[in-house]
Amino acid sequence: TPMAVAAERGLTPLVGRDEELAQLEASFRRLTGNRAQVVAVVGEAGLGKSRLLYEFRRRLDGECVSFFEGRCSSLGQAVPYFPFITMLKLHFGLVPGDSVEAACGKVATKLGDWSAEKAEREYPALSRLLGLRSASAGEPAPEELKRETFDAVARLLLGQSQQAPVVVMLEDLHWIDDASRELLETLVARIASAPVMVVVTHRPDDRAAWRTRAALTQLVLRRLPDEDVRAMLHAVAGGPLPGELERLLVDKAEGSPFCVEEITRSLIEEGYLVANGGGRKLTRPVDEIRIPGTVQEVIAARLDRLGPPAKRVAQVAAVIGRQFHRDQLARVLDGEGIDLERELAELESRGIFHRKSLLASDEYRFGESLTQEVAYEGLLLKQRRQLHERVALVLEAEPGEAGPERSALLAHHYARSDNRAKALAALLRAAEDAEDLPSYRTAVDFYRRLWELAEADGDDPTARRAALAATSGLARLSVVFGWPPLEEAERAARRARELAEALGDTEILSGVLYFLGVITMLGEDFERGLALAEQGVAVAQRAGNKLAVMRLSRGLAVNYAIDGRFELARRAMKWVMDELEPTEHRARLSDLYVSVRWVRDNVLYLCDDLDEALASVVETHAMALSAPNRTVQAGSAGTISQILFLRGEYAEALRWADECLEGNEAIGNVSGFTAPAAVALAARVTLGLAADTERYLELIEQGLASGRTVQANFRFVADAYLGLGDAERAERFVEALRARPNSSGRLREAYLETAVGEVMLGLGRPEEAERPFTRALALAETIGARSTLAEAALGAAQVAAARGDAQTSARQLERALAIAREMRLGHYLARAARLGAGGEEAAGQA
Ligand SMILES: Nc1ncnc2c1ncn2[C@@H]1O[C@H](COP(=O)(O)OP(=O)(O)OP(=O)(O)O)[C@@H](O)[C@H]1O
Ligand SMILES: [Mg+2]
Repeated sequence: TPMAVAAERGLTPLVGRDEELAQLEASFRRLTGNRAQVVAVVGEAGLGKSRLLYEFRRRLDGECVSFFEGRCSSLGQAVPYFPFITMLKLHFGLVPGDSVEAACGKVATKLGDWSAEKAEREYPALSRLLGLRSASAGEPAPEELKRETFDAVARLLLGQSQQAPVVVMLEDLHWIDDASRELLETLVARIASAPVMVVVTHRPDDRAAWRTRAALTQLVLRRLPDEDVRAMLHAVAGGPLPGELERLLVDKAEGSPFCVEEITRSLIEEGYLVANGGGRKLTRPVDEIRIPGTVQEVIAARLDRLGPPAKRVAQVAAVIGRQFHRDQLARVLDGEGIDLERELAELESRGIFHRKSLLASDEYRFGESLTQEVAYEGLLLKQRRQLHERVALVLEAEPGEAGPERSALLAHHYARSDNRAKALAALLRAAEDAEDLPSYRTAVDFYRRLWELAEADGDDPTARRAALAATSGLARLSVVFGWPPLEEAERAARRARELAEALGDTEILSGVLYFLGVITMLGEDFERGLALAEQGVAVAQRAGNKLAVMRLSRGLAVNYAIDGRFELARRAMKWVMDELEPTEHRARLSDLYVSVRWVRDNVLYLCDDLDEALASVVETHAMALSAPNRTVQAGSAGTISQILFLRGEYAEALRWADECLEGNEAIGNVSGFTAPAAVALAARVTLGLAADTERYLELIEQGLASGRTVQANFRFVADAYLGLGDAERAERFVEALRARPNSSGRLREAYLETAVGEVMLGLGRPEEAERPFTRALALAETIGARSTLAEAALGAAQVAAARGDAQTSARQLERALAIAREMRLGHYLARAARLGAGGEEAAGQA
């Protein structure tokens, strides 16, 4: 690590920080309780975060601990999984210049002990993360790959932790990329009961502040007290300073160790401060010396003191990034007549550059990230743009695997250069690679830049193609993953439609119409949206693009079901299944096949064909297990759990819900937490089993907060809250439901009204339950949603009873019972029994 390299050159002896170190150590000791520890060290630039981690690691010298260290960087923000890539490279001992074979060999050797599962899962997932292999045909879909990656990293850490406690240090989280943040969150959840300590550092910055369920300790680094600053001053200067100067410096440094070191060193470098016996003396009066006031000024002054060639080298290096290779520098500086070896030696001796390690001599990095920032800022815009292009050209010419890391870097540099054509191509490539990885947020960022840049070029045909790719990408990502937000997606989709029509690209047009349709449905206008989506399918059909028709119809079918057009939904799914069955997709249980099957089962479930849905989804689950496709495995377990819950088979429902939850947690599918957590919690309460209530509640809320991609995942949330008797939460839930813009689709609305009614009843406010139940009854009747009709009728019966209207109450109850008996809805039969009327008989049925 940089700190370790600095240490070889001599660190200022440590002052203070006893308490912080003690806290870190105490946290580490708590690992023996098999409870993961998460510590965030927070402090301004230069306050000593990295140093604290370094000292902590040294304190554990000689103990049996596995360390994993990774760091984020400002440039790395554009590279999905950057800190984890650095961490794994370090762990596997990969160095730049390793051939792909050599690198693969190292990964394989280190993973050692090849169980079949390791070989199958971890090895490809990790190698892919490290850019050692790229996606090939027959590999799982991106979403699945992401999940495998998350899982592989988690297993790696968990595996190590079985031998010895693990300490994961991730530095500079203020620069973390979104994919890594998601992975980190998933990891923290996965390691909760393993001896793993995660220590992160970041500057105080909202983006980095990060919530986790695991016990999170925050260590806020304070500025050093004056006496510690004085001790540091003496150590750096090599003896006591004249009193007046010392007071001035203590004042200027404001307790920042970085400032203490830098200001003092600059005084020595400038020749203002010289040895005088055991102490130091000034060569000029204090008031003639300009002492920089901020960290940035200190650094800028230092760079200015370098000779022009050395300063140039530092600035060019700053464009390349925090780390760079000597050959890259040489190529970018080619022809400028700079004696690179000499300047590198100079920069190194002044501590501006460090070698990455004393042995590997060609890799350098800025000793301090701020130095890189200041050197970069010192360049004129025009120079920067030229340099970025040169750096990109050099990087592009380098041998080695293409991959998301490389395409992100190229996009970063070209986008900041004047080379428009290259910038468009590089941004598109980077967006596609990020989408494949997948890292949606990163992909969205690239598409946004691409769109902006492409539109600036007006009518140029290449630019229009690029704009089409960007806008259709944004629309697609929003529909599939819920990001970017709807308004932006709608703007993008409209523009994409325009462009696709103008360019006569029917393939893209069909998708875009479909996405625009879904976006419109999610917005206000379900009818118009559905029509647009249908138009999309029709375009694909006319173009003879069967695969597109299948994909789009699958999505359309779910929306039909959500709108209560059950017949249409069933027919659409049947058509897709019939098309797929005779193909090789069926034979090899491709992702498309198992996921289509699961969607079909879900549609059957939404249509209330419970028997057929259950029989089929159990089979789908088995197929997903053998495929393997963990997304569908978890998803189908969830569908099973919901059906069994309705049937009143709570113990089995609980088992399946827990499997679904575990799967979704492992793969980081947050929006899939809500339904199984609600079912599991409600089932446990009904069965009188102990529950880790907090955990389930947190999962329900995480899922609800995660967005809108999930059509009806709130169905059993009211059951869970009311089962617990948590009135406050139930009420908040109802308020949030009412505020949801995407309450469209008649089935979803019926679910929603029923949920509101249930909560109002549970809160003892039957008068407020009447309207929602009446609406739910009307909706459910119109579309023929029978299980919802049963539930709403039960609710209406209760409302009527509370009003003293025994006749209506009896009638509604009879209606509910009839449906519940026929569909064997044990959950509602039991409730009817509790209501009294029809009691004995209903209880017997349940
Ligand atoms: N308590 C201390 N005693 C002596 N020297 C220290 C102390 N804390 C930090 N330093 C020194 O101050 C310098 C800056 O510290 P460090 O690099 O740890 O800061 P940082 O908080 O990690 O900054 P950044 O946010 O820029 O990464 C280093 O040279 C470090 O050795
Ligand atoms: Mg640091």
